[in-house]
Amino acid sequence: MRIKLNIGLFGFGVVGSGLYNVLNQSKLLDASISAIVVKDPTKKRDAPSSLIHFDKDIILKDSNTNVVVELINDSEAAYEIVKSALASGKHVVTANKKLIAEHFEELITLSRANNVSLLYEAAVGGSIPIIRNLEEYYNNDTLSSVQGIVNGTTNYILTQSNQGVSYEVALKKAQELGFAEAEPTLDVDGFDSKYKLVLLIKHAFGVLSQPDEVYNYGIRHLKPQDVNYALEKGYRIKLFSRAEKLEDGIAGFVAPHFVGPEHSAYRVNDEFNAVIVEALFSDKQLFIGKGAGSYPTASAVLSDISALQFDYRYEYRKSDAEQSGKLISDYYLKVYVGSENEENVKNFPFTEVDEAFKSKGYNYQTGYVKFSDLQRINLNKSADLSLIVLPEPLFSEKSEQGVLLKNKLNFAEIN
Ligand SMILES: NC(=O)c1ccc[n+]([C@@H]2O[C@H](COP(=O)([O-])OP(=O)(O)OC[C@H]3O[C@@H](n4cnc5c(N)ncnc54)[C@H](OP(=O)(O)O)[C@@H]3O)[C@@H](O)[C@H]2O)c1
Repeated sequence: MRIKLNIGLFGFGVVGSGLYNVLNQSKLLDASISAIVVKDPTKKRDAPSSLIHFDKDIILKDSNTNVVVELINDSEAAYEIVKSALASGKHVVTANKKLIAEHFEELITLSRANNVSLLYEAAVGGSIPIIRNLEEYYNNDTLSSVQGIVNGTTNYILTQSNQGVSYEVALKKAQELGFAEAEPTLDVDGFDSKYKLVLLIKHAFGVLSQPDEVYNYGIRHLKPQDVNYALEKGYRIKLFSRAEKLEDGIAGFVAPHFVGPEHSAYRVNDEFNAVIVEALFSDKQLFIGKGAGSYPTASAVLSDISALQFDYRYEYRKSDAEQSGKLISDYYLKVYVGSENEENVKNFPFTEVDEAFKSKGYNYQTGYVKFSDLQRINLNKSADLSLIVLPEPLFSEKSEQGVLLKNKLNFAEIN
């Protein structure tokens, strides 16, 4: 049975105004916006003034409103709004990844206790339908990895860098085009990608991680020499949110990666996002689309609203399944580490080095590092060191390759 949806909308910015227009054009939905709550009374809006309000209780205390769509740019205020909406028995749709990643358990518990839905498709990958696909389509036991470019700002900057534009100029261009905030830390240091990864890991593997447990390293410190290395080897640099099932759990982190022309993400440029899902029988599948912007993001919000008509909710079945694992750190990855300072490269905790380059202006080494050793370094704060993950697969300490590497190290130590 279809439910008639009376929507209270919080926020009328990029996404909120997009949703208003998209909803007005959608003939199939039995849904209407009964009130819009915003912050600034002096702003002009492309919506009837009778709909615009400034008091959140106009929506939260209205018993006819059965859906709250939260699209504001203040996570603390959003937290209070969403909690209050769920507690008063209203379904909630939001695009706020930070809010969901940081308060996941509390908000899900509240939605279940009040028998309402909390949906957030737009929080990851903008227009790409990935949350509901991971939730409904892929079994945990056959799913082996989910990785993607889920931040359009950094992908735009990296696309420019790959063409030889410096980081500073590329960031400025991104800010002029409205892709990057004046204070870009959340994007360029990989925090935004990390919040999204927390949600991907939950829906892909049923594992709940706190944002603090997930390592994020962004693109701020990449140097032209790193880009030159990429060009020489035929790679491009992409910032990946990456989650992979290994022998004893889930590896999950955010870091720049080198990708070659054979990689599905190689040609994903500018502000586009892409998510690559790998499963046992279906092999690799690529989802690509606009990761941000008014209408692309509103389209994902609209899809959630549409799902509410049929009382859809995430069931988190994988969380209850026995096979749902945990986040692990005992695995190896192959990395490139570069710096103008030779000592920085030498002191990096490589387990095994296989290529080293020294010159007057720049030095780099490539080799394997144990993830738990990497985790101890705050790379976002190490301005004179850059790290990029190489295309070789990750492997756990318990895998055949891990045991071989350990034996090799023991042998070297004895001799
Ligand atoms: N922009 C994108 O492409 C994109 C993509 C994916 C997800 N998202 C997420 O979508 C959400 C909205 O982003 P946006 O880009 O649309 O933001 P935005 O353009 O900056 O607009 C924010 C809106 O929130 C309103 N607002 C702020 N604090 C409020 C409060 N306490 N009560 C009521 N309204 C308040 C503002 O009111 P005034 O108009 O009065 O200032 C404004 O209308 C964020 O969670 C963002 O992370 C955005």
